[in-house]
Amino acid sequence: MIGVAAEGEAANTEVLVGGMVNAGAVFRRGELVERPAPHNARALHAHLLALKEHGFDAAPTPVRLTADGREQLTFIPGDVALPPFPRWVLTKAALESVGNLLRRLHEASAAIRVDTGVGWSGDLADPAGGTMLCHNDVCPDNVVFRDGRAVALIDFDLAAPGRPIWDVAMAARYWVPMLDPASATALCPANLDAPARLRILADSYGLSPRERAELPGVIEQATETCRAFVTRRVANGDPTYLQALAERGGWERWDRMQTWLAAQRETFTAALLH
Ligand SMILES: Nc1ncnc2c1ncn2[C@@H]1O[C@H](COP(=O)(O)OP(=O)(O)O)[C@@H](O)[C@H]1O
Ligand SMILES: [Mg+2]
Repeated sequence: MIGVAAEGEAANTEVLVGGMVNAGAVFRRGELVERPAPHNARALHAHLLALKEHGFDAAPTPVRLTADGREQLTFIPGDVALPPFPRWVLTKAALESVGNLLRRLHEASAAIRVDTGVGWSGDLADPAGGTMLCHNDVCPDNVVFRDGRAVALIDFDLAAPGRPIWDVAMAARYWVPMLDPASATALCPANLDAPARLRILADSYGLSPRERAELPGVIEQATETCRAFVTRRVANGDPTYLQALAERGGWERWDRMQTWLAAQRETFTAALLH
């Protein structure tokens, strides 16, 4: 999504809107995106290049780090969905394409040795750890679509070692989405069938029976991790997170979501396994 360039920006510079962490600080300049470099940008760039070597071409190519602490990567043309979501975002085809893309990412990622000496982000990391680098933030504003299909993942800032199922759980939170009916209605135009959509995501990813049995519990754990992340941002007075929390219904919404997930656990398990 493209916003209006700030006054004083070069004529060919566009502000890219979508994310929350770097809101207002991500720009497109022609073929390139320029954004604040995370502290571990060198390791992330090496990982993005390694993904390409392992046949995963659906992520930005890192170009360089600038002297003033920013990074440049290739811009990936396409559509990035923002709420309120247009209908194409919530189609079965879109969901399947996200599952397929995440599987492809993991197949490449699993072949890359993770450097455990790197300070990977702890923000949304799998508490169980793991030997593969997970993306951890496969939310709508980090997926580029073309013709209603997911074609690329962007924004690897929160990547960290974890179990593949952790990334599936995180993706499910946003793409099913794993929201109680009241929260879902506020975000999505249709009455979505969460258990059926969770099954579609698991099938398109190719989740094993053992992982299917674990998934509802891991989604609850991932939800706790996301809540803790928001709690830290709010405690630090981050204005973007403070505003989003207030607009979306405060901590009550998180309580409702978590209560609903626990109450529906058996329903999700049955939908995944039968
Ligand atoms: N390489 C890219 N190709 C295409 N669009 C991009 C790219 N990087 C960022 N964007 C757009 O800019 C938005 C914000 O960028 P992002 O790096 O995800 O910011 P944040 O760290 O705040 O989440 C994205 O939601 C997307 O719309
Ligand atoms: Mg983002």
